[in-house]
Amino acid sequence: MTTAIDATDFRYALGQFATGVTVITSTDQEQNPVGVTASSFNSVSLDPPLVLWSLAKNSNSLAAFEQSGYFCVHVLTASQEDISQKFATKGADKFADIEWSRGEGELPLLPVYAARFQCKTTYQYEGGDHVIFVGEVIDFEKTGEPPLVFHAGRYALAKNKDSKERPGDAVDLEQGNFNDNFFLYLLSRAHYQVSFSMRQEFEKAGVNHSEYLTLTVLGMAGALSWQDLQTRIEHTGHAPDHGIMNEMQDKGLVRVTDDGKTYALTIKGRELYISFLAISKAQEEELLAGFSEAEIADVRGFLQRFIQKTDPGIPSLWQHK
Ligand SMILES: Cc1cc2nc3c(=O)[nH]c(=O)nc-3n(C[C@H](O)[C@H](O)[C@H](O)COP(=O)(O)O)c2cc1C
Repeated sequence: MTTAIDATDFRYALGQFATGVTVITSTDQEQNPVGVTASSFNSVSLDPPLVLWSLAKNSNSLAAFEQSGYFCVHVLTASQEDISQKFATKGADKFADIEWSRGEGELPLLPVYAARFQCKTTYQYEGGDHVIFVGEVIDFEKTGEPPLVFHAGRYALAKNKDSKERPGDAVDLEQGNFNDNFFLYLLSRAHYQVSFSMRQEFEKAGVNHSEYLTLTVLGMAGALSWQDLQTRIEHTGHAPDHGIMNEMQDKGLVRVTDDGKTYALTIKGRELYISFLAISKAQEEELLAGFSEAEIADVRGFLQRFIQKTDPGIPSLWQHK
């Protein structure tokens, strides 16, 4: 450093400036793809449309970016920490095991992004131990996916501080419609989509909704009396009647316990219950695959509090006895 600035302090202070995270790609002289993770990206001008970023002079990709004449900026989504890490690793084979294609000027394009800007390099400036690249945007796309954020040396999520839309604003009583910010619609739609795939699974196994709920409730609780079974399932509108309980006994899924007072699963019933549990576990992984751990933890925490705060006293279907 030229002045008495402490390098660690300086880095720490700069880290207070929260940024997005991008992967910027280009090609070397043999048209091989190169790419680096960069948070130095920023907008410069609207007309002409210009953007900039800076690259460390010790980057293995410096020569490629200086010579190629093009670069492509991928603004990463909240679930792309792994891609960020990959392109920040020196010497790594960055394009192995990922999907990519070629765009303008043979530019390597990644298929997942919050926004993507294909640029023609218009200026290069000296910037101390970095080179500053300015590019004219020749094509761009955006997906609306939430972006990945970098702050104080850690990945973070962007949160709206004040939502312009207050609860209730999404519903228009005069027009008789609502938009997709309507919170209750979002909850019901999410619930519907999750239960839709589960319903297909139990129907495939020849089990109806009441039977499915009975199996899972007995699976968690062990054994329950007729009344306890009704109390737990009643609010869903799918409580089993005597006919369903007899049918489940005929199918060998449920038995009456020795004292004649409670119902429990047979070995066959328990095996079916465990197979449903395994399917739900696999479905959870599949459904959440495109979301970051932080996003999932956020929503999980919110839903736990939401359920606690709004509980009208309905019994928990699946609690242990
Ligand atoms: C979140 C994040 C942001 C980064 N931003 C930049 C940047 O703006 N410019 C830069 O030169 N390096 C930046 N880096 C470091 C490079 O990605 C890293 O040094 C990379 O390995 C350089 O690749 P190469 O030497 O293989 O070309 C960043 C790393 C991370 C994790």
